[in-house]
Amino acid sequence: MERSPSRCGNVSCESTRPLVVTIDGPAGAGKSTVAKKLAERLGIRYLDTGAMYRAVALAGYRQGVNWQDDAQVRRLLQSIELHIEEDRIFLNGEDVSDLIRSPEITRETARAADVFQVREFLIAQQRAIASRESLVTEGRDQGTLVFPDAHVKFFLVASPEERARRRWRDFKRKGIDISYEKVLEELLQRDEQDSRRPFGALKKAPDAIEIHTDGLTVDQVVDILLTHIRKHIGTDSPSG
Ligand code: C5P
Repeated sequence: MERSPSRCGNVSCESTRPLVVTIDGPAGAGKSTVAKKLAERLGIRYLDTGAMYRAVALAGYRQGVNWQDDAQVRRLLQSIELHIEEDRIFLNGEDVSDLIRSPEITRETARAADVFQVREFLIAQQRAIASRESLVTEGRDQGTLVFPDAHVKFFLVASPEERARRRWRDFKRKGIDISYEKVLEELLQRDEQDSRRPFGALKKAPDAIEIHTDGLTVDQVVDILLTHIRKHIGTDSPSG
């Protein structure tokens, strides 16, 4: 196989296809922050698949879609165009990156993500992006269902209390008034919903590397992931 470093960002890898690094795990395990930084260090694209589910949920919420009604869902999906630029997501041209983070849309997302048609729609887009360029992609089903043959897979975990603390701090920073107890309760509920989904459930791929992020800084986690990536596929360039 030919060595093609440009295909893999700052990492030199022997691959004829773009590099795919998957990061799955429950809400609040630190996936987004870590994935974004890791992608930056690798010089490749970052893909937040949760934002894609959230944007579809927002569209459905605005149109009052009944997620159980196949025809309504089909019409909704036909009317949606998603565009993702770094960590911003656009729904039919509108930047909805902040709107999709509200507790209401988070609840709606859990319902939308249960719908087979929605998953099919988004999985096709995720695979299309990965066929064009290398990426670090994070979500629930990236290493299991969407990219079973990803180059390197990670599964990030942390205790529910630590995850709820992180989420609560995020909400506070954004001026969203919600108690820590409520955040913890909703997070546990979401873990349960995300894990028992018949299709695309939150699950560790058998070949994923599990990382416990309790008590670790973002940079420490990123360094650990980079060490694994180097071991698996090659080495960073000096800039990496
Ligand atoms: O990652 P984030 O918390 O933004 O994801 C929001 C929700 O989207 C998750 O709780 C889950 O229900 C859904 N999701 C999913 N599959 C993914 C990413 C997110 O079902 N790959």
